[in-house]
Amino acid sequence: MAAQSRVILVGAGNMGLNHARVVSQSERASLAAVVDPREDVGREAAARFGTVWLPELPDLSGVDGVIVAAATEAHHPLAMQVLNSATPLLVEKPVADNILRTEEILSLADRLDLPFMCGLLERYNPAVLTARSILDHPFHVTATRHSPYAPRIKTGVAWDLLVHDVDLSILLLGSSPQVVNSALGHFHPRSGTAAEDVAETLLEFDSGAIAHVSASRVGHRKIRLLSIYELDKLIEVDLLRRDVTVYRHVSESADVEGRGYRQQTVIEIPELLTSEEPLTTQFERFLDIIDGRVDAAAERGTILPPHLVIDQVTATRRAD
Ligand SMILES: NC(=O)c1ccc[n+]([C@@H]2O[C@H](COP(=O)([O-])OP(=O)(O)OC[C@H]3O[C@@H](n4cnc5c(N)ncnc54)[C@H](O)[C@@H]3O)[C@@H](O)[C@H]2O)c1
Repeated sequence: MAAQSRVILVGAGNMGLNHARVVSQSERASLAAVVDPREDVGREAAARFGTVWLPELPDLSGVDGVIVAAATEAHHPLAMQVLNSATPLLVEKPVADNILRTEEILSLADRLDLPFMCGLLERYNPAVLTARSILDHPFHVTATRHSPYAPRIKTGVAWDLLVHDVDLSILLLGSSPQVVNSALGHFHPRSGTAAEDVAETLLEFDSGAIAHVSASRVGHRKIRLLSIYELDKLIEVDLLRRDVTVYRHVSESADVEGRGYRQQTVIEIPELLTSEEPLTTQFERFLDIIDGRVDAAAERGTILPPHLVIDQVTATRRAD
């Protein structure tokens, strides 16, 4: 068996624990340490996944990769430290909490030509992978990502949630949007003044395609829905339930008595391409990039575009 990659996890919160589980279950990797400044949290996570706890990043010699799943505000210094020691990095989304810090991290990864991934996890959702495999010429995308309020998240909803569906829109429609229109709403008394709760965004693409992307963190139901329109079909994706439904409208006619109308729509439920947990698929890809089986530069090139759009979305706020 090939040697296992030694991976360190930074940040043992909600997302970090999932990463720790995935790394420790992988046959290709071992979890070398869990880093978190909160000793109780870090020690408990390390014990659960059979590794050691460290309060801060150690010297990274002998480490094959680092996953940063710390709070978004902490990404920038951690990412710069990891990359400056020439270690491959998977950083949770968003790369950083503003575009300048994001660009600084990405240009360092480019300069050093290092394996670098961002946790844009929905790319690996089995329902998204399946939908992408049956697409022909999509021209209209709508996405809704609404969640109940989570006070621990300090960034606004655009950097936190909208980024996923902007990323999917870019992947599905094949380019970055030329025009970004957005309206931001601030509603929750516990949200910081610079942290919006709702972001409604309209993206216009060079091809003429359009996407309407809606994110809210003041909902009362978790909704993750994506609709992809083509001339001959509509593909609906429920990212939470991980299912895909394809609708083809075939005819519309008056009823037998000539009143009202009757319509026919053929509904298909395609078999999912995979049932692999998205975090596992993402981590396997990170290992493939580290091993040189996936092109690191091409992967890095997909990360900035959704971040640039979110910067334009939040510019609406800065212009206020
Ligand atoms: N890809 C996804 O679908 C997805 C989903 C949820 C969260 N996230 C991202 O994951 C990251 C963490 O989110 P969360 O919900 O787990 O937050 P969380 O608050 O549950 O956990 C964050 C952890 O980071 C630790 N931390 C803070 N500063 C640190 C530092 N300097 N070094 C090491 N650890 C540090 C905290 O002590 C805490 O344990 C965020 O960037 C978030 O956007 C991604």
